[in-house]
Amino acid sequence: MPADLHLPPIAPGRRPLFGHAIPLLRDRLAFLQNLRAFGPIVRITIGPKSLTVVNSSELIQEMLTSKSHQVSKGLLFEKLKLFGKDALPVAEGSRHLTRRRLMQPAFHRERVSGYVKTMRETVEPVIANWCDGDTLDLKTEMQLMAQGVVMSVAFSSTPEHQRARAILASVDTVFKAAIRRALLPVPVLERLPTRRNRQITHAGGVLHQAVADIITDHRTNPDAYDDVVSLLLAARDETGAALPDDEILSEVTGLLAAGSETTAVVLAWLFHELGRHPDLEQRLHHELDTVLGGRTLTAARLPQLPFTRRLVTETLRLYSPAWLVTRQAIEPLQLGNVTVPAGTDLLWSPYTLHRDAELYPDPQRFDPDRWLPERPQPPKGAFIPFGSGKRQCMGDAFAWTEAISVTALIASRWRLRPIPGTSTRPIGEITVHPSSLRMTAESRQTATTRKAA
Ligand code: HEM
Repeated sequence: MPADLHLPPIAPGRRPLFGHAIPLLRDRLAFLQNLRAFGPIVRITIGPKSLTVVNSSELIQEMLTSKSHQVSKGLLFEKLKLFGKDALPVAEGSRHLTRRRLMQPAFHRERVSGYVKTMRETVEPVIANWCDGDTLDLKTEMQLMAQGVVMSVAFSSTPEHQRARAILASVDTVFKAAIRRALLPVPVLERLPTRRNRQITHAGGVLHQAVADIITDHRTNPDAYDDVVSLLLAARDETGAALPDDEILSEVTGLLAAGSETTAVVLAWLFHELGRHPDLEQRLHHELDTVLGGRTLTAARLPQLPFTRRLVTETLRLYSPAWLVTRQAIEPLQLGNVTVPAGTDLLWSPYTLHRDAELYPDPQRFDPDRWLPERPQPPKGAFIPFGSGKRQCMGDAFAWTEAISVTALIASRWRLRPIPGTSTRPIGEITVHPSSLRMTAESRQTATTRKAA
């Protein structure tokens, strides 16, 4: 080891041969949470592989902002290339920059306000189809809804039910493979013709076909669309050449993947918490009835829903969908009093950061009022569900608008009741999703009529 490297300490609990693999595999989220007790930056090992976990919010900021030129996206994103080689979330360097500049206008705050109507028109028919007393698999419902929203807003496309489910299943298969391969990287196994690997290839095929159909439709009717696909089709590089089809395909697939499951799990967790806290649900209903009271949800009305926004904020804190974000040092990297060599795999977790008792009093408690402006706010850099710096989520304004709008639309009409005797716990896959979340839909209108009678 060169003399000027000061490696982080190794976390306690390492076993010969396995390293920390056993507790990591047993409960990923609890393992990462417990690691926070061992200092601002620690190393863990999985078999022969070593990973450096950055815990401190200051060091995370440093890595993502002032030192972002010294890191690449790392292990997890390498495996996410299953979605498409160089899509924005996995692209590096100048390619990332030019692609981001190209696509970002579609995700600017002002532009996103214009999407509320499409979001409403996508969600309303779905929730109008629910029947009083229906048992809903909330994770799937929200996934289909969020997928529908991204597809209708970004690609002007809403697949019919069977197709939507096939796309969802494919994204799920590819996500699961990426996380498994990132945590237990054995490249040779990834190339074997096993059943699982064949399933992954098949899932990739289904996804690409769906996206290819959208692109073909845009090419055939170019004047009919003004969306992200039109933006990509119209783009020219510095030589005046159009983007190759496979790159457009990767970008569209990347957006679909990045934008569906994340928002979906936030919505699922939010309704889970409302089901457990009737007092919060009542306050939400009061706000919605006062501000909307049967009127149409528009972008102009969203700022009048501060409690709904605080519910979303608190859900993003307690159930940050991204529990694992990776980087890799591309040159020796100093973080605090530690210096790691080029090639070091680094990771940080929004999920565990947001549950740190040093940053948030009573961190396990779901308390939207901790975000009231008169309450002490967490230190800068302590709330970053969308990451930070040049790789910060491009869809953050989109996700806020969508989460607040969908919450308002659903809760204006429905109460989602927990099913007695069932329990739900967080599972860390590509996002932190509920193990299982079935809830009963109860029409608010019927409930009011019942009460009146
Ligand atoms: C609650 C919902 C969401 C959460 C929590 C979330 C979280 C994140 C995080 C943490 C990153 C940064 C990863 C890193 O630093 O390596 C990211 C990147 C990204 N997200 Fe999101 N995201 C959400 C919704 C969306 C939506 C709705 C879209 C688009 C429709 C989207 C598109 C992207 C893209 C394109 C990137 C890559 C940006 C780049 O590398 O320049 N996300 N997201």
